[in-house]
Amino acid sequence: MTTGKTAKLILADGKEHTLPVTVGSEDEHAIDIRTLRADTGYITLDSGYMNTGATTSAITYLDGEKGILRYRGYDIEELAEHSTFVETSYLLIHGRLPTQSELATFSRKLVYHSMIHEDMRHFFEGFPPGSHPMAVLSAMVTSLSAYYPDCLDRDAPAELHITRILSKVRTIAAFSYKKTIGQPVMYPRNSLSYCANFLHMMFAVPAEPYEPDPVIVKAINQLLILHADHEQNCSTSTVRLVGSSGANVYAAVAAGILALWGPLHGGANQAVIEMLEVIGDPKGPYKGDHKKFIAEVKDKKSNQRLMGCGHRVYKNYDPRAKILKKMADEVLQHLGVTDPMLELAKGMEEVALKDDYFVSKKLYPNVDFYSGILYRAIGIPTPMFTVMFALGRIPGWLAHWKEMTEDPTSKIGRPRQIYTGSTTRQYVPIEHRST
Ligand code: ACO
Repeated sequence: MTTGKTAKLILADGKEHTLPVTVGSEDEHAIDIRTLRADTGYITLDSGYMNTGATTSAITYLDGEKGILRYRGYDIEELAEHSTFVETSYLLIHGRLPTQSELATFSRKLVYHSMIHEDMRHFFEGFPPGSHPMAVLSAMVTSLSAYYPDCLDRDAPAELHITRILSKVRTIAAFSYKKTIGQPVMYPRNSLSYCANFLHMMFAVPAEPYEPDPVIVKAINQLLILHADHEQNCSTSTVRLVGSSGANVYAAVAAGILALWGPLHGGANQAVIEMLEVIGDPKGPYKGDHKKFIAEVKDKKSNQRLMGCGHRVYKNYDPRAKILKKMADEVLQHLGVTDPMLELAKGMEEVALKDDYFVSKKLYPNVDFYSGILYRAIGIPTPMFTVMFALGRIPGWLAHWKEMTEDPTSKIGRPRQIYTGSTTRQYVPIEHRST
């Protein structure tokens, strides 16, 4: 909100420009530069958007210095403890917790939209063996727009598309897994809750009955809640940018899935497990010596990073990592699994938290540090980890897309640049060119 506060900018020519200051509900301050170029000819330069607020938003608040994360005002710790993924999705998308009947209606809609068009099942056969499931998921979500062409009408209500995406991504993710292991796809069962149904589609086979383990159902709920939104991160900003052009919601969400894929973003959970496998390999270069690996990470020349550590906005322990570390202990104990990787990860965290390199750069474990260990214990294969992240982030992307499209002041996203190439040159015919 604008408060009457201002900031003064003095440019090289000595001219002063006064800019309004916008203050958020948690007292975050921003200099509003919307009139800057028109008034002065200057733009701002901020590669990586380290200081740039692309929008105002009422969805998620996070304080990276204090390690606070809230969805619509509710602490992530409380939601992870008491809510379900479906309820949290409603909260993110609609802005408030649902009543009992609203939740029942929302859940019923998610149940009834879980199947994909039967023709789409054949798409899975077109992908080569070993296709990364993120490639499959993004292609399938884009393809959904072809089955629901009314999504191209920007004036039509979006609610049904939002429900379809939220419900069908589970089915698509599970079908793509079944394809990679050569098992028949399992159709959704309407009697199951959102997360139980996902586990059923992933792990049931037609030959025998399958009952999802309630402890694992709760763990999946919590994992998805923890991933459900994180304000203007790389993938969410991508969803907003693509959506700002008027592209349909399936296209915007598919773009978010692709942005999430990178190892510096959602792909980090896969990268963490791959890193731990290399460190723990008795025939590998580290033979379980994580201190040797950490020493290499600290050596600038090695180009090695401690995956699952560090964050653009958290300069304190990521609150999600705290919950996941505890959950990893509980789930592994429940399953009777001892995973040397959990011990390895804890050992590495202990070293990093005391090491001056990590302390001085404020590098703490992030959400991806322990999530992969949990997914492994549950039986989800490593290439599917980023898909799990995407399933969790879907309601966040949808909430941001909805917030943006419902805001009459939204504009197409179009950053500027400072050009550093050649100034004007004359065309030289090819026979007169030298290298
Ligand atoms: N291991 C070792 N050093 C690191 C790490 C790390 N994981 N992360 C940052 N650093 C160092 C950098 O080398 C840099 O050092 P310098 O100042 O001496 O050059 C300094 O810390 C700052 O790092 P930047 O890359 O500039 O920080 P940025 O905010 O751009 O990057 C990022 C954040 C990408 C998450 C980074 O910490 C990283 O690569 N982490 C590992 C990948 C990862 O876990 N990604 C998941 C993030 S959570 C998510 O997206 C869901």
